[in-house]
Amino acid sequence: MLRPWKVVLGERIDPSRSTPLYLQIAHALIHEIERGRLGSGDFLPSSRDLAAALGVNRKTVVLAYEDLIAQGWLMSSGTRGTMVSQSLPDPRRTPSGDPGRAPDAAAMPDYRFHAPPARPLALPAGKWLKLDEGSPDGRLFPAEMLTRAYRTAINRASRANRLLYRDPRGSPLLREKIAEMLKSERGLPVTAENICITRGSQHGIFLAARALLSPGDTVLMEELTYEPAVAAINACGAKPVPVGLDEQGADVDHVEQQCRAHRVKAIFLTPHHQFPTTVALRPERRLRLLELARQFGFAIIEDDYDHEFHFHSQPLLPMASYAPSRVIYVGSLSKLLLPALRIGYIAAPPAFIDAVAHGVSLTDGMGNTLTEDAAAELIENGELRRHARKANQVYATRRLAFAAALDEELRGIVDHRMPEGGLAFWLTFPDAGRLDRIETRAPELGLSIADSRSFATRPTAPRGLRIGFASLREAEARGALRLLAQAAG
Ligand SMILES: Cc1ncc(COP(=O)(O)O)c(C=O)c1O
Repeated sequence: MLRPWKVVLGERIDPSRSTPLYLQIAHALIHEIERGRLGSGDFLPSSRDLAAALGVNRKTVVLAYEDLIAQGWLMSSGTRGTMVSQSLPDPRRTPSGDPGRAPDAAAMPDYRFHAPPARPLALPAGKWLKLDEGSPDGRLFPAEMLTRAYRTAINRASRANRLLYRDPRGSPLLREKIAEMLKSERGLPVTAENICITRGSQHGIFLAARALLSPGDTVLMEELTYEPAVAAINACGAKPVPVGLDEQGADVDHVEQQCRAHRVKAIFLTPHHQFPTTVALRPERRLRLLELARQFGFAIIEDDYDHEFHFHSQPLLPMASYAPSRVIYVGSLSKLLLPALRIGYIAAPPAFIDAVAHGVSLTDGMGNTLTEDAAAELIENGELRRHARKANQVYATRRLAFAAALDEELRGIVDHRMPEGGLAFWLTFPDAGRLDRIETRAPELGLSIADSRSFATRPTAPRGLRIGFASLREAEARGALRLLAQAAG
């Protein structure tokens, strides 16, 4: 005889779904047990009866029963049939059992997990035209070159039996190559022992913050800065405290004032190409900052995310090259190569590198060794250098064309200065109403831009837009700027 719950079971079975029918039946039976409508020791209908009731082949029901018996949900009671396992608790007999009102399995309970509600996830722009904040043009890097590097890396690693769990500090080959590059091109006194490979510089910023900061610590951040770094620092329970900013970079007098008012643990900076304003931190301010760091005992987190692209002169030497014990240096191959590779790195004293590597071992265990070995191969065979040279030329041309397009398409609407380096312009608006209009109307025009307020660490910070010029070809960029002008009204 069929029991009343079979009707409900039927509602959960749908032959048009891609899940095999026998699994749908098994899930539906577990659901009935979970809800307490089927209790410990209850007999199920015969496979023939249930198959007839559900309009499925008897073998399908047999398969579902066998599966649930093997998993311990059901048991066979010889000739008497199949029953719900007697070792399961019967919700009808437990004090909290309420068979009629079991929770909806699809609804998410209120676990109070950590997802900052005010911080939307940065999802891909989809069909929208994205004016990014300084991404490279992924189309410039030949796919075959990457394929070859991966093939070499896989063959080498396989021959040497290196495709196993590895060092959380990252691929030894890549650590070696990055250390050589930082030493010869950026003047950092480092060896592989000073390097931990990370999944992009964002991962590096988070791991450095996690190794350095305790809840309640104060971290100085410019009044306009890189919001994901603010979020990473907040996630460690530390407190970002703003410092002023002008066309020469961070206001060092204000840094000193804040050091006298707070016990400062660190300062986060993008000294080469300030994010978002693009300005370089002047040498006299760098020296003063180092002096303050010594005096007040704080660390400097130097995020040098797009080092190679400096058009005005040679790239400036990182602060880590002349103060390696004070500076935690974070770099990336995202802009130089491709963001999708997710390769960044931290250069710091070995004891700090070990602390960061503990963070890696707690999160993803170790890096993506094959990708890291492939990147090492690109450095070793010179392809990375050749690509950097070519990309630099392309971006230098696009930078000039973008400035011209800004002048023509947004004359009188925005002010901008030619960035000395980096892959973006900082646009300010003499009439703030126009910026408001752009931010309101850009979505209607299918245009995606970073929110001007996302850069601010204090309400009085000036507003502007950071617009990348490198990822779009000249005609694409001009089209996007026309839309921006249209949005400004
Ligand atoms: C200032 C700054 N820091 C860090 C990053 C993170 O880059 P990635 O994690 O891809 O290395 C970016 C990316 O745009 C950036 O602009």
